[in-house]
Amino acid sequence: MKNVKYDNLTEIQKKLLNEAEKAMQTAYIPYSHFSVGAALLTSDGTMVTGSNIENASYSPSICAERSAIARANAMGFKMYKSIAVISKSENRDLDNICSPCGVCRQVLYEFSQISGVDLEVVMSNSNKDKIIIAKISELLPLAFGPNNLNVNIKPYKK
Ligand code: THU
Repeated sequence: MKNVKYDNLTEIQKKLLNEAEKAMQTAYIPYSHFSVGAALLTSDGTMVTGSNIENASYSPSICAERSAIARANAMGFKMYKSIAVISKSENRDLDNICSPCGVCRQVLYEFSQISGVDLEVVMSNSNKDKIIIAKISELLPLAFGPNNLNVNIKPYKK
């Protein structure tokens, strides 16, 4: 896990974060006024974005990270290298980095197992002056996954 300055990101990480930032504008956030954008880098270099989608019944809300994964999956991508996440609060005076919630960490872990990659997670505040890069294994140590159930996920590696 490391703090990184925007200028020190690789060109791909910068592009991924900028795609996540653009995706934030599509968030449906009438309840929290907290927009989140995520951008996944697939194993072939394609970038797929998502944003959070809220609901009047609150619990059906979907985070940006899982929205990006669902979209990438529907596009035929199950193998990823990296994800960038950025957020912005419209009604609170805060500007923290956006780190994935526990549920998203669990879903990211599942896809890290399919990908065979300890997924990189690039987390940023809205100004992009606070950025942390971590691996999913650092965000979710001792994760429960397909191995615990002795499940073969190899057929999904594509
Ligand atoms: N949210 C995300 O989309 N991703 C995160 O990593 C944290 C939280 C969303 C869920 C909800 O729409 C809003 O942010 C406030 O919790």
